[in-house]
Amino acid sequence: MLDLSRFPRVALTDAPTPIQPLDGLSRHLGAALAGVRLFVKRDDIGPVGGGGNKLRKLEFLLGQARADGADTVITVGALQSNHARLTAAAAARCGFACELFLTHSVARDDPDYTGNGNRLLHELFGARVHLLPGDADSLAAAHARAAELEREGRRVAVFPSGGSSALGCLGYAACAAEVLDQSAAMGLDLAQVVTANGSSGTHAGLVAGLTALGRNPRLAKSYTVLAPLEEARRITLEKAEATADLIGVSLPGDAIVIDGDHRGDGYGIPTDGMLEAVRLMATTEGLLLDPVYSGKAFSGLLADVRAGAYRPGDAVLFLMTGGAPGLFAYRGIFASA
Ligand SMILES: Cc1ncc(COP(=O)(O)O)c(C=O)c1O
Repeated sequence: MLDLSRFPRVALTDAPTPIQPLDGLSRHLGAALAGVRLFVKRDDIGPVGGGGNKLRKLEFLLGQARADGADTVITVGALQSNHARLTAAAAARCGFACELFLTHSVARDDPDYTGNGNRLLHELFGARVHLLPGDADSLAAAHARAAELEREGRRVAVFPSGGSSALGCLGYAACAAEVLDQSAAMGLDLAQVVTANGSSGTHAGLVAGLTALGRNPRLAKSYTVLAPLEEARRITLEKAEATADLIGVSLPGDAIVIDGDHRGDGYGIPTDGMLEAVRLMATTEGLLLDPVYSGKAFSGLLADVRAGAYRPGDAVLFLMTGGAPGLFAYRGIFASA
């Protein structure tokens, strides 16, 4: 039982998001699938800002900000941050002013990267954008700006990277309950729930939620696309513990399953596997993965399936986390490959 009703919340999703079988991809892969059944949960669909996983976190973050009387929200991210886009859009929807501190953490200066995709949308949703060098401490800059605004009489809520505070992670604890209910109603006994790991909050929330619901948190598995494996494991565990604390449960030992083999040369740097995964999903399912997060994670899932990590008949659920605007910042590689 997971009761999150004591946490203030605004409505930003149309949950439950659909779970769909990947029939077209499965036909295409044929024998390579070895009888594994692949499904996606469509957290990329949402009623605000183009949709994506950050909406579930923002329901709790903005709910608390509203309860605290905030009129302004500030968050941080990379130049092509989906989280920044969705924070700006959700703030617009809920009547908050929004400021974004974006770091130039991927070494690209071409106009697709610096001006298209998410970067085009941040200001379109009305946010005030502050650009910082790649090595800047954006969260410190955000807090300094919040203090300045508060001296002027504003009330400000600052959200960390990816919205992955314990409060934000509750969004994915709630999603764990949703996945279990939906899969039970569909008669699916899931072998694994798979997601991308950036700021770790999606995975951490799932782990806390599964634990609270009496399920093995190792049902959730992520592919890190940002931190190297051991750092990602440490951060995910910390966030899962903080979220579990907030809910009032304790994690079992060894709760975190992460793969570090599909991150490639680093955050935001394309891999061949990502390109294949994005293309396959687009051409066999008409679905859009993104080049930075879900494309790399899905390439990891494909590699695992091809390597025989699952048994015939296993049902594996991939969380589609959104991020399609990022494709427009990577026009060059898709156009030329
Ligand atoms: C499209 C997309 N998928 C997955 C993730 C990873 O989620 P998390 O930061 O909670 O690990 C992000 C994070 O920014 C994202 O934008």
